[in-house]
Amino acid sequence: MEKNALIYVAGHAGMVGSAIVRELARLGYANLVVRTRAELDLTNQTAVADFFTKEKPKYVILAAAKVGGIAANMASQADFLYENMQIQNNVIWSAHTAGVKKLMFLGTSCIYPRECPQPAKEEYLLDGKPEPTNDGYALAKISGLKLCEKMYEQYGDRFISCMPTNIYGFCDDFDPKSGHVVPGMMQRMHTAKQNGDKEFSIWGSGRAEREFLFVDDLANAIVWLMNTYEEKDFLNIGTGVGTSIKELAVLLKGVIGYDGELVFDTTKPDGAPRKFLDVSKIHKLGWKYSTELKSGLEKTYQWYLENRAS
Ligand SMILES: NC(=O)c1ccc[n+]([C@@H]2O[C@H](COP(=O)([O-])OP(=O)(O)OC[C@H]3O[C@@H](n4cnc5c(N)ncnc54)[C@H](OP(=O)(O)O)[C@@H]3O)[C@@H](O)[C@H]2O)c1
Repeated sequence: MEKNALIYVAGHAGMVGSAIVRELARLGYANLVVRTRAELDLTNQTAVADFFTKEKPKYVILAAAKVGGIAANMASQADFLYENMQIQNNVIWSAHTAGVKKLMFLGTSCIYPRECPQPAKEEYLLDGKPEPTNDGYALAKISGLKLCEKMYEQYGDRFISCMPTNIYGFCDDFDPKSGHVVPGMMQRMHTAKQNGDKEFSIWGSGRAEREFLFVDDLANAIVWLMNTYEEKDFLNIGTGVGTSIKELAVLLKGVIGYDGELVFDTTKPDGAPRKFLDVSKIHKLGWKYSTELKSGLEKTYQWYLENRAS
């Protein structure tokens, strides 16, 4: 991407979108166009088409989506399917009509089949049924990846996609009821420290392994791919490193300075024993994550302390 080219970051105020804006600024891209949802509702086809006709961005990074935890997904499967289909159809088609040179669509690792072998390779997508608790979201995201692939094949559009693993970092949702495991556990452990709790309870045995990527590393990979990747096949983005929930909790104890005891509630489910991505393809192309989990957790906790009031 040329440094002065007009780049549209959709979802710029979200966790991933704001990291992409920071990364673009760090690299000297100063010509960005952004819109809040109040200014441009991406589910509105006419408004999106008008925006592209007027602004004519050269590059698009689509980081806007309806995103949520298990409870939100289960309660509103139709909304997750409908809104995400609308957002991505409108943005991808309008980008095509407006002659956008390159577009990046973001999938997510939770759309791989529920039973797929681990670590998940790119070719396992659609080898089985997605997790039923979020299949509305998964089906929309799979359609987005496929639409980019088909646009690439039929029209020669350079519309590429990536499949990020679990992300943590700044601007995350720290509410334990709706947030993902890292921010949820961080917030609960911070509160346990404040309250002087002797014990900290964790669902399951602590042995389940998950993969965590710092959001700034994801943003770095996305901008790097926009500049280097020309293929239609989507790519996994992750660390390729599995971390057990117990290891995560021990790291967080150190970062937060909590000295109570970790108690594993084995009456609660562990979920899948291991879930992480095969990242050999992106490694072969030359990209690797740079933020180790401990360092990412320290930065995230500092951000949380500075911003939790707002
Ligand atoms: N977080 C993760 O762990 C993770 C992992 C893998 C992939 N991803 C992918 O990364 C992308 C961004 O996720 P995120 O975690 O950054 O989510 P997020 O923090 O909720 O940000 C999503 C952004 O999209 C905007 N948006 C939603 N609906 C919109 C609409 N109808 N019109 C205009 N803007 C709209 C939101 O605006 P408002 O703030 O106004 O709602 C928000 O700025 C998603 O595609 C997600 O699948 C995330």
